Amino acid sequence: MINQMKGDTRQIDEDYKDAEGEKRLTKEVEIHKGLVGVYVDESLISYIDGEIGKLFYRGYPIDVLGDKSSFEEVSYLLIYGRLPTKSELANHKDLLVKERNIPDNVLSILKSFPRNTTRIELLRTAISALSLYDADDYIYTEEANIRKGLRIIAKMPTIIAFSHCIQQNQPLVEPSEELSHAGNYYYMMTGQEPSEKFERAFDKILICHADHSINASTFSCRVTVSTLSDIYSGITSAIGTLRGPLHGGANEAVAKYMFNEIKKKENVIPWAKKKLANKEKVMGFGHRVYKTWDPRAVIMRDLSLKFFTEYLDGVDFDRIPKNSGLELDHDHSEVDYIFEMTEILKDYMIKEKKIFPNVDLYSAGILHILGIPIAAFTPLFAASRCAGWVAHAIEQFKDNKMLRPRLKYVGKLNKRYKDISERD
Ligand code: COA
Repeated sequence: MINQMKGDTRQIDEDYKDAEGEKRLTKEVEIHKGLVGVYVDESLISYIDGEIGKLFYRGYPIDVLGDKSSFEEVSYLLIYGRLPTKSELANHKDLLVKERNIPDNVLSILKSFPRNTTRIELLRTAISALSLYDADDYIYTEEANIRKGLRIIAKMPTIIAFSHCIQQNQPLVEPSEELSHAGNYYYMMTGQEPSEKFERAFDKILICHADHSINASTFSCRVTVSTLSDIYSGITSAIGTLRGPLHGGANEAVAKYMFNEIKKKENVIPWAKKKLANKEKVMGFGHRVYKTWDPRAVIMRDLSLKFFTEYLDGVDFDRIPKNSGLELDHDHSEVDYIFEMTEILKDYMIKEKKIFPNVDLYSAGILHILGIPIAAFTPLFAASRCAGWVAHAIEQFKDNKMLRPRLKYVGKLNKRYKDISERD
C-alpha cells in the first residue's frame, strides 16, 4: 500500500486504479533525507572533520588563517587555490578596493525598496540586479567568472551598508579607498574607522565564515550554476538559502534571544530548560557535520573572551553605535555581558543534550559589541561566504555534472480525471 506522505494533510482522491503503478512504486530505493552523509562530488576547496572539530581552507587550518591571514588573502586562496605572492596579494587588494562602488541604478533601486525589509532580502535582490550592470554578464569564461565573482565580493559590503543606512534614514557612508576590506566594511556600517583590535576582530569573523564545504547555501549555488546558469544567479540562490534561521539567520536569532528574552545570567538556565521542554531548537547550537566543538566557535569564543577581559578595557562605550530603532529593546546597562550568558548556556547544552556551540553563538555577541546592527548580521555572513560561493561556482564549472537528485514518489497513480461538473 502506498502511504500518504508524513506531514501532508491534503486529501488524496480515492478514485484511482493503480495496480500497475503501485507495482513500480514498491521498488526499494534508499532515501537520504536531508542528503545526510551524501557526497555529491570531489572538491579541493575545504575540508571539515566533524569528529575532531577541524576545518581547513585549501588545506590550511582555520585557526592559523584566523591568526595570520586577512579576508583578502583568504578570498584569493579560496578562489585561486593557493596563497598569493606579495604582488599578487597587492593586486588582488587593489582590485577589491577599485570595485567597491555600486552602479547608480542599483543605488536607486535600493532607495526604492519598502522600508522595514530585511537586509538579507535587500542584498539578495540587489545582487540579482547587479548582474545587469556587469560588463561580463554574458561572458562565461573562467576569467570572466572570476572577475564577476571578485566584483560581487567587493561590492557586497557597500550594498549591505547602503541598504542599512537607507532603511534607517541615515546618510550613506561612501567606501574608503584607504582601508582594508574588513576596515572599510566596518567603517561603512558604523561610520567610524575601527581601532586595530576591532579591525582584526572583524577580519577574523569574515575569515571564519568564508567557506564551509558544501553547506546548504553553497549547495544551492552549485546546483544553480550546474545548469550552466551564471555566477550571479548562483550567488542569488545562495543568499536566499542562507537567509533561513537554520543556516545564516542563526546569528540574528542568537542576538535576539540573548538581548530580548534572556537578558540576565540568572535567566539563562530557566530559559534553556523551557526551550528544550518545548522541543524548540536553541539557535547557535548543533551542526550537521560537527559532532563536537565547531572550530570556528572555538576561535570566536576565544575572541569573545578577549573582548570581555581585555579589549573592552578603555573602550568608550559611547563610541559603539547604538542599535536604536532595531529589534533591541534594551540599553547596555539592562543586560549582562553576552559572553557570561553564552558560557552558562554552553555548559548547560553540552551537559543536558551533548549539543555543542556553533559559530553563530559567539559571532552574535562579538558583532554586537563591535557595533554592527543585528539586522545586518546575516548579510555579513553572506558578505564573507561569497568568497566560498565564488570558489565553488568556479570549481563546479570546471568539471560540471548537472546536480539533479531524485525523489521517491509515494502518491497514487492513474487517478481517474473527474470533469469539473462532477466535482463538489
Ligand atoms: N537545539 C536543540 N536541539 C537541537 C539543536 C539545537 N540547536 N540542534 C539539534 N538538536 C537536536 C534535535 O532536536 C534533534 O533531536 P531529536 O533527535 O531528539 O529529535 C537532534 O538534535 C538532531 O537534530 P537535527 O535538526 O535533526 O539535525 P541536523 O543535522 O539537521 O541539524 C542544524 C543541524 C544546524 C540544522 C541544527 O543543529 C539546528 O537547527 N541548529 C540551530 C540552528 C543553528 O544554530 N544553525 C547554524 C548552524 S552553523
